[in-house]
Amino acid sequence: MSHGPGGVSLVEASLAGAATAVEEARPGPAGRAAVGATLQPTLAELSRPGRGGGKVPHPPKDALDGIPADARRVSPLALPELNEPEVVRHLVNLSHLNYSVDTGFYPLGSCTMKYNPKVNEWAARLAGFAGLHPLAPDALAQGTLELMHELQGALAEIGGMHAVTLQPAAGAQGELTGILMIRAYHRARGDTERSQVIVPDSSHGTNPATASMAGYETLTVRSASDGGVDLEALRSALGPRTAAVMLTNPSTLGLFERRIEALLEVVHDAGALAYMDGANMNAVLGRFRPGDAGFDVMHFNLHKTFSTPHGGGGPGAGPVACVERLAPYLPGPLVIRDPDGRYRLERSDERPTAIGRVRAYQGNVGVLVRAYAYIRAHGGTGLREVSADAVLAANYLRERVGTAYELPYGGPCKHEFVASARNLRAASGVRTLDVAKRLIDHGFHPPTIYFPLIVEEGLLIEPTETETLETLDAFAEAMLAIAREAHDDPQRVLAAPTTAPVRRLDEASAARRPELRWRPMVGRETPCPT
Ligand SMILES: Cc1ncc(COP(=O)(O)O)c(C=O)c1O
Repeated sequence: MSHGPGGVSLVEASLAGAATAVEEARPGPAGRAAVGATLQPTLAELSRPGRGGGKVPHPPKDALDGIPADARRVSPLALPELNEPEVVRHLVNLSHLNYSVDTGFYPLGSCTMKYNPKVNEWAARLAGFAGLHPLAPDALAQGTLELMHELQGALAEIGGMHAVTLQPAAGAQGELTGILMIRAYHRARGDTERSQVIVPDSSHGTNPATASMAGYETLTVRSASDGGVDLEALRSALGPRTAAVMLTNPSTLGLFERRIEALLEVVHDAGALAYMDGANMNAVLGRFRPGDAGFDVMHFNLHKTFSTPHGGGGPGAGPVACVERLAPYLPGPLVIRDPDGRYRLERSDERPTAIGRVRAYQGNVGVLVRAYAYIRAHGGTGLREVSADAVLAANYLRERVGTAYELPYGGPCKHEFVASARNLRAASGVRTLDVAKRLIDHGFHPPTIYFPLIVEEGLLIEPTETETLETLDAFAEAMLAIAREAHDDPQRVLAAPTTAPVRRLDEASAARRPELRWRPMVGRETPCPT
């Protein structure tokens, strides 16, 4: 927790701010602000010397006797001193400051904040999966290996591809895996002059980042006015130095690429391979198979499509699927089913062309179990319905929000849509950031803003398939109310959020100069023991 120059902690400052804000609080549809009302002091700030957890059972006092004297600390660790209920309340209250898909609508475009069905959690916690050691011999891991083998098959079927690796730990790592496979493919053919990867200007930032991590130069091609890739621009960027083109379909503008056939034809004519960023497969499950369309390799984001948790930087999975000619380069080991029906991990000498491992052990298996549970629970027709509902919800919201905001791209969208607050900015100075902050006062998590970069004052809104009509309507009403307020009383929008525990943060400083280390306090607060 940082301290201001006068020794006033952020907590005190923001508590004062929150008190004023509460006076004009306008609760959201659930009758409460989007997140918990107040920030929490740190454990160090709550610490009092000599206070301990003696009233609840603790390890016996002689627990340390077995540690040799010369291995013991001579001075106590500078840890906060609190009793157990204080620690528990602190952490639970902190958790109330979180916004999550389990607490409210989360329309973050491009991120697909899908609800995580609890049946997935049940499956992942089954002792046979959760308790399996990653180095367990194949003979003791038959159930897990079978599940992984079936998941490889299901994803190959969904993608229209030949083979799948489950190893990559996220979509971004799946991209890197796919591009490394493409590099290995060109090299194996002696085609060593290909040094460029082409991406559209609407692509997710992980696409150019992947290309450069794999040692390629990135070329960006502009989008056409309909939001799709400009065929002529792509044609002129392609050449003997192009290794791959990375396309996202549906794109990060929520649009299905209508010219896909022509685009892939020019890519292949140039001797390059086509990578599909499959992060948005939620919109096209059972309707569009990248392999059938001519893509060579793709990744899935299990969290964006098959309802596994986002992980917050923790465990995730971004399986990669490819056509037959790229299968020799998939990272190993794959899960194999022998003719006798037993499952095992591939041996490294069985496919020496593999690019190697991209992740320790077999990837994040708990996440794979959740995705498998989701796929099996829905079945083929269920997955088709998922994408139908996701697209319907996005188009419904688009129609409603479009009555007060600009819609830069005409026609229906897929899983998400871009709106723009350019009209509000022109009329009253209210910008997209202000709309997003005001949504917090209405009890909603804001959508993604200013992305894709090619849309001025853009809001990228993605409702997903599980929201009710009432929730969609409540969100639309909030967006429309903010647009009205921007015209009638713009200062109120510019002052938002007024009900959150903190007001507007200095996001640039927070990103560039994060304070990640607690320092002992000064003034009337108790210093941490040294
Ligand atoms: C289009 C697109 N590509 C790639 C990614 C990266 O995936 P991950 O966050 O799993 O690394 C995302 C994430 O939302 C995405 O939307």
